[in-house]
Amino acid sequence: MFPTHRPRRLRRTPALRRLVAETSLEPRHLVLPMFVADGIDAPREISSMPGVFQHTLDSLRSAAVEAVEAGVGGLMLFGVPKAEDKDPQGSGASDPDGILNVGLRALADELGDSTVIMADTCLDEFTDHGHCGVLTAGGTVDNDATLIRYVEMALAQAESGAHLLGPSGMMDGQVAAIRGALDASGYVEVGQLAYAAKYASAFYGPFREAVGSSLQGDRRTYQQDGANRRESMREVDLDIAEGADMVMVKPAMSYLDILRETADRSPVPVAAYQISGEYSMITAAAQNGWIDRDAAILESLTSIRRAGADVVLTYWASEVAGWL
Ligand code: PBG
Repeated sequence: MFPTHRPRRLRRTPALRRLVAETSLEPRHLVLPMFVADGIDAPREISSMPGVFQHTLDSLRSAAVEAVEAGVGGLMLFGVPKAEDKDPQGSGASDPDGILNVGLRALADELGDSTVIMADTCLDEFTDHGHCGVLTAGGTVDNDATLIRYVEMALAQAESGAHLLGPSGMMDGQVAAIRGALDASGYVEVGQLAYAAKYASAFYGPFREAVGSSLQGDRRTYQQDGANRRESMREVDLDIAEGADMVMVKPAMSYLDILRETADRSPVPVAAYQISGEYSMITAAAQNGWIDRDAAILESLTSIRRAGADVVLTYWASEVAGWL
């Protein structure tokens, strides 16, 4: 007549629940993606990502210091060049005076080794066609020609003080190409957080505004098809074999199964990226009064950690680190 098993006993008080919580969320688990823009004289809020800004060099420095003081594990920097500076090769990406490299030097100067400075190693912000690589005459993305540009970009980022490079373009062989060039140039200690399993996703929408993307069409010839799971394990294995120091799954919330499987097999730390659309959906629903914002943020981040992420990239990193 009475249940033999009563799992509810351990849920009765906050202290009991705290004692038996299986997943933790600490500031060090969180990485803050940041945008630094050329040619603006005040930080500019991204309209589809309320609360997230394109930074000037000055506001980048102060927001980065704030994040590090809140205890975040690291910063991931993206550059937003002026539209007139974009070209088919994405020259600004490897130019030492390109905005991303200038921003990396500002962070390195301000923070040194007190945090982990990461750089997005991808051409899409810098190309006038918006693709992650250079194009063939026929207009498709040329994998091997792109690797040459990634190498040039990677060396400029290492020279600018990045601790970890984040190749995110999903070109075949990108991790090995970058590793080889870093080693040959004396940057043996600069590592790679490889975007190993990166899916073509509708949830990147707000990011395209954040970086002023010029893209027409989609990235389905190089980013993965959301229907596939096994393919991700191959991508993860390849990136690790090519020398990735950490691997990433992206987006996070629609791909938690991929994240779990990656975490179960990976010998290196695993990151997940809670992307722009995930941020914007929760923000918009909360602004409408439809969900409790802070609770939804914590639940989403806890679920990503529970699925196996050692590290979570999230636009809420600084704020949430302050709560914890
Ligand atoms: C490519 C890159 C993208 C994001 C991070 N790196 C965009 C894309 O692949 O289209 C998306 C991040 C986000 O949506 O928050 N440089």
